[in-house]
Amino acid sequence: MTRQITSVIGGENDHTGSPYTSTNPARPSEVVATVPLADAATFARACRTAAAAQKEWARVPAPVRGRVIASIGRLVEANTEALARLVTEEIGKPYAEALGEVREIVDTCDFFLGEGRRLYGQTVPSEMPDKNLFTFRVPVGVAAVITAGNFPVAVPSWYLVPALLCGNAVVWKPAEYAAASAHALYRLFAAAGLPDGVLNVVFADGAQTYEGLDLALSESTVHKVGFTGSSAVGRSVGELCGRHLQSPCLELGGKNPMVVMPDAELDLAVEGALFSGFGTAGQRCTSLGTVIVHRDVHDAFVRGFVQAVQAAKIGDPNGDVLYGPLLDHKFAERYEEYLTWIRPHHTVLPGPTGPMDGEGLYYHPVIVDGVRPDDRLFLEETFGPIVGVTTFDTLDEAIELANRPGYGLSSSIYTTDPQAAFRFRAGVSAGMVSVNNSTSGAEAHLPFGGNGKSGNGSRQSGVWVLDQFTRWQAMNWDYSGRLQKAQMDVADITPDLAFRL
Ligand code: UN1
Repeated sequence: MTRQITSVIGGENDHTGSPYTSTNPARPSEVVATVPLADAATFARACRTAAAAQKEWARVPAPVRGRVIASIGRLVEANTEALARLVTEEIGKPYAEALGEVREIVDTCDFFLGEGRRLYGQTVPSEMPDKNLFTFRVPVGVAAVITAGNFPVAVPSWYLVPALLCGNAVVWKPAEYAAASAHALYRLFAAAGLPDGVLNVVFADGAQTYEGLDLALSESTVHKVGFTGSSAVGRSVGELCGRHLQSPCLELGGKNPMVVMPDAELDLAVEGALFSGFGTAGQRCTSLGTVIVHRDVHDAFVRGFVQAVQAAKIGDPNGDVLYGPLLDHKFAERYEEYLTWIRPHHTVLPGPTGPMDGEGLYYHPVIVDGVRPDDRLFLEETFGPIVGVTTFDTLDEAIELANRPGYGLSSSIYTTDPQAAFRFRAGVSAGMVSVNNSTSGAEAHLPFGGNGKSGNGSRQSGVWVLDQFTRWQAMNWDYSGRLQKAQMDVADITPDLAFRL
């Protein structure tokens, strides 16, 4: 079904821009939506509109804003199937996973609706009498949020929900190849009663977004940038924000390792590797990059892994499949480039590689055994259905291998030895660690984020994201009726430090 959608700024549809077509990756000739892509000036205008609307929104009591978040959650829940079907149609995510994705929005709303009645500040003792100290969380202002399309509705909600709850206005720039899903989510947010201009959605390409963001940052109409996407683009968004003295919230790629210890339950490890590596066609930022398996269990693990991959169904994402097509043409092209990184010293299993026969962006699952620490396949993210395998002898070596690519988003270890699990946790550079579980599938109320090439240390989700969308304000109130000077007019109690028992 073709939908004609547009950017929405201040509650008004904006029809300007160059036309873009979002297609169904399972049947690329099928148009899902057409949308005009806005230019940089339009993006900057949306930020001005948001800045004007934000002041009133910040005055709405936080518990009332929390009720709006509650309504968003209920609206999303009541529209679960329709939204999930649209996600499946537009980006080819298997329907069961799309339902999970919608569930993640509801979970996020459920968490933050109560935060409207907390958003705690502190009362703090002063060093002087008749003086009180306080801290307050203050909304940052306008958040510009730029998101990827592999989680076209759940990951955006990680930004939008807390940003709005905290009293900010938002300009959201979704991935254009997931425009219809994003627009549907926008409509659900709007239906909850958000005043015009508090949430704006702008469809634009990367170059115009960058230029528009630069403009808006210069005009001081953006006060926080949230970005989910590749490390390369994250780097340039980070540079831009740095020039404007801002620290963005960056959620970037990963080369997520899974360590399989000799004492691991191998069947469980195989199941975890299958879902981590090939679920969502390997297109999660938390997808498995390399299995680092102990030499003694390497052959048994690889045998099981290959069997599991061979038994898995790949195809129509409306059916019961492990994965469907890749997200979009540009991801398929990039994925084909990753396949050229395969070298003669690698063993490719189960074979063949590349596109499957027929229409649709379907690709064969690929396990590359024998990857070495200097291989591109070992060092760089390969968004798509490809997983490397390498071996180790000691836990220290496994940890070193896990950290070597320099990302640090997610990680996993399969072991029955608690000591190994905790040593791995302490040694791995990742922001998230799973024990006997997949690298993907983080729950919506734990801190989500990475280190190194996976991000700048910012964390989303749960209470931790509040520090992204609020700034601490410190207040002191002196009711002594005189000027008491801090550090100078402070009472002293003299100890006898020479005292000994
Ligand atoms: C992403 O791919 O950007 O932990 C996010 C997971 C999901 C989120 C992935 N809950 O795999």
